[in-house]
Amino acid sequence: MKEKGRYRGDIRSGTLVCENCGQEYPVAAGRPVLLRKNVLNEWTSPVSEAMGINDYRTIDQSIKELFSFGEKRAIELVHERDQVNAEVFESLKSIPRSVVGKMKYRESGKWIEAGNRRARLLSFPWKAGDNKDSFNIFMQRIASTKPDSILDIASGGGFAVSHQAFVNTKVKQILAVERDLKSLGNIQYRFKYIGSESRSEAVGGDVRNLPVRTEVIDTAMMLAALPEISGVTLMIREVFRVLKEGGAFVLLVPEDPVVPELRTDAEFGKFAAKADLYAGHEKFEYDSELQGFRVESSKRYEGRQGGKRRLISLKK
Ligand SMILES: C[S@@+](CC[C@H](N)C(=O)[O-])C[C@H]1O[C@@H](n2cnc3c(N)ncnc32)[C@H](O)[C@@H]1O
Repeated sequence: MKEKGRYRGDIRSGTLVCENCGQEYPVAAGRPVLLRKNVLNEWTSPVSEAMGINDYRTIDQSIKELFSFGEKRAIELVHERDQVNAEVFESLKSIPRSVVGKMKYRESGKWIEAGNRRARLLSFPWKAGDNKDSFNIFMQRIASTKPDSILDIASGGGFAVSHQAFVNTKVKQILAVERDLKSLGNIQYRFKYIGSESRSEAVGGDVRNLPVRTEVIDTAMMLAALPEISGVTLMIREVFRVLKEGGAFVLLVPEDPVVPELRTDAEFGKFAAKADLYAGHEKFEYDSELQGFRVESSKRYEGRQGGKRRLISLKK
């Protein structure tokens, strides 16, 4: 580790060098960023990402664009994107200053304390005592696996992982992996807020290429991120790799794909399969079994506002 500065004993900025391959990775705002160059760090629609479109689109906009291309052209774009990606192995050497600024701002807590975000985003515990709430059941399910180590997949702002850190005081090590770097600041702030910082780390990483050694994790968890992943089967394979034998992968996911047209039996089903997008829980469970997981349970929950969610527990 080459180091440029110190802050209360933590490394704030510098470079991590892989002892095996010599690859260098930056440390920015106290967070290790173990990403390849071609992995974007800002939010992007998985539909656009699959077609190699890097400019910002909402999911709706990207679906409209997909329909305007038609399935055949969209699949060609996926192939072209795959070829480009296959040629990039370089790491992100440095992080733009503007991004580091956002990471620091969010880590300071100022972002989350602004407006009414605090009430929405920073209330622990979530709906205390509500045993029918699917999120609470999800939290209990993860804790019931009695893990020493937890890996949170695609952590976003860290809502789920910080709640697990809050309710599960027994877990010794918590790792949150997210590629939107500014969010790493949010996650780390939440860890600090609940006093879990010494056992919890937010790390910049790609869930399709996890920056984690093989067979070291007891339990992996994932909240609501599956429809945002372009490369779902790659992610499943990676989670399987890093879990110990007997390890658990617990997910709370939407019951349906982003739009019905992305179902495997629907108009754009072939595109969803080629682009490796979330196409409903049946396909996800089937793919997980192909990778070696056993589906322990899969149960649907009706949300109070009508949204349907599914809690899936996989076992290695
Ligand atoms: C809806 S958020 C997840 C919410 C989060 N689990 C929580 O508890 O707050 C989905 C996240 O997936 C991230 N994401 C999408 N593709 C990714 C990838 N390949 N690697 C890492 N993160 C990814 C996005 O950046 C986004 O922040």
